[in-house]
Amino acid sequence: MSKADVLLGLQWGDEGKGKIVDVLTPNYDIIARFQGGPNAGHTLEFNGIKHVLHTIPSGIFHPTAINIVGNGVVIDPVIFKKEIDALLKLGVDVKSKLIISKRAHLILPTHRLIDAASEASKGKNKIGSTLKGIGPTYMDKTGRNGLRIGDIETNEFREKYDALVEKHKQLLSYHNYEYNLAELEPAWFEAIESLKNLQFVESEHYLNNAMLAGKKVLCEGAQGSLLDIDFGSYPFVTSSNTICAGACNGLGIPPNKIGNVIGIFKAYCTRVGSGPFPTELENETGERMRQEGREFGSTTGRPRRTGWLDIPALKYAVMVNGVTELMMMKADVLSIFDEIEICTHYEHNGEKIDYLPYNIDPAYLKPITIKVKGWNVDLTAIDSKDKLPAALMEYVKFIEKAVSTPISIVSVGPDRKQTIRMN
Ligand code: GDP
Ligand code: IMO
Ligand code: MG
Repeated sequence: MSKADVLLGLQWGDEGKGKIVDVLTPNYDIIARFQGGPNAGHTLEFNGIKHVLHTIPSGIFHPTAINIVGNGVVIDPVIFKKEIDALLKLGVDVKSKLIISKRAHLILPTHRLIDAASEASKGKNKIGSTLKGIGPTYMDKTGRNGLRIGDIETNEFREKYDALVEKHKQLLSYHNYEYNLAELEPAWFEAIESLKNLQFVESEHYLNNAMLAGKKVLCEGAQGSLLDIDFGSYPFVTSSNTICAGACNGLGIPPNKIGNVIGIFKAYCTRVGSGPFPTELENETGERMRQEGREFGSTTGRPRRTGWLDIPALKYAVMVNGVTELMMMKADVLSIFDEIEICTHYEHNGEKIDYLPYNIDPAYLKPITIKVKGWNVDLTAIDSKDKLPAALMEYVKFIEKAVSTPISIVSVGPDRKQTIRMN
């Protein structure tokens, strides 16, 4: 029996997970998304094509890999249909390569409305949600009111939908939120019809049987560890477990069948939406980083906040995920700086600490950084480890030592090809 590897983000999302899943897919038979939904935007670039996926796993462009949307994922049929249509246009054989768990929950139009109403009511304390209905859908899941993919095939589907919408209407009237549901419903039901063209499976059986037969599985995470509902910077988080354990919950893979845990991080940090960000650079340096890294959201287009690499936060993410191997993204972006800072510790309640504590609010925690020499070399055409500049190799070694985990890939550009294997 083979074990499933897990690939996930170690920061606040957008680390470059989509690119790496695409790069690694030739080594796997199955790519399985385990949580999140259309709040995610995973970008793939190859052969001059740039493509953003939201719900569909990033292995979809490879000729043979099966892509599974797991039970832990929440699906907006309208967005899902758009994703499928875009892939069909590119000639991707979606029907034979994409399957969905019957246990995955559906995002209703009213979930999106509740998301918007809830954010509006929070005012300046808003989470900065992508407003895709993620939080309300997971609330209905844990509240045991949710509608699932498997329900689509039952006679009671419409009845269940109506009952849930009734509940939502009450919530919306509590929020005094104005909306026009009749405008949203036709596209939703049309998308539900087109979903029926895909195979709905019991993905826990599918995956465990595949692993028994020796098939290789890569579980694809969305968001990042610092957005995890339990371990992220709560309440400024998403509503699912983004960490490695989420792959067990979100796919039905037992913990003792998890193999390598691949942690993806940027050579610096970004965050989109509200919430504490210890190393944030709200200055010209941060702006240069944003422009050079094209740090604008793949899903919402919002500018991403930028800052230096945060080692205590990275160590925390490596710890809660049991990361066995790291991949460092966007090294090329730091080429513009003569000097690079790395946060190695925090000042917390007057004390110097080297770990991520419970409260990372700026009032309680300040980053302590060191300065290292930049490499000032265009990395984007480099194709092997031995051509990497010495200062970058130092940066890599420093991180490996600080978090006691090897870096196996350094990414030097968005394209599939701009990927350097370190071993
Ligand atoms: P994901 O959500 O983790 O899949 O990441 P996103 O796709 O949201 O954001 C990562 C962005 O960085 C995308 O625009 C990628 O095309 C781009 N990207 C990925 N790796 C690299 C890299 O090594 N260098 C540069 N410059 N861009 C990269
Ligand atoms: P990928 O998979 C970056 C952020 C939002 C907001 C918070 C809650 O592309 O890395 P939600 O819509 O889940 O209620 O938003 O989480 N967020 C992400 N940030 N990358 C993502 O996904 C994100 N998904 C959600 O900006 O701060
Ligand atoms: Mg993204």
